[in-house]
Amino acid sequence: MDAKAISLKEKDVKPVVDLLNDYLANYHIHYQKLRGCHWNIKGQNFFTLHVKFEELYTNAQLTIDEIAERVLTLGKPPHSRFQDYINESTIKEIDTIGLKDLDMVDAILDDMSKLIELERNLLEATETAGDDGSNDMVNRFMQFKEKNTWMLRSFAGKK
Ligand SMILES: [Fe+2]
Repeated sequence: MDAKAISLKEKDVKPVVDLLNDYLANYHIHYQKLRGCHWNIKGQNFFTLHVKFEELYTNAQLTIDEIAERVLTLGKPPHSRFQDYINESTIKEIDTIGLKDLDMVDAILDDMSKLIELERNLLEATETAGDDGSNDMVNRFMQFKEKNTWMLRSFAGKK
């Protein structure tokens, strides 16, 4: 598979592929953080946040698969090793054991803000490359996190 097969130029698509692989690495770290929050949540918000974190990691899992398969559609292999994810992700792992419920929400909001920043870079790169398929996909993922940023901030009583 080559970008030419879907009428895109290999040279134009290269920066998009590199950014998508970085994005994939960041999403994996975010995904595992959500699982940690889901498992280690304690206190009066347990029933609310345990379920909310599950909703978010289920979405992240589907998102990760779409990102990786888009990289393949563009003719390149996606990163698939944890070592690559850890090395390339700007989002860092945290220990969720003993983390307070609202600190978990803050950690997830922080990840979402970094992912949205990456998505805005991707929207520019995909536009430059004429890659409307990746642009549309990333835009969908971004809107999900924009909405969830509002909901998590409201839950935490933030402006
Ligand atoms: Fe579970």
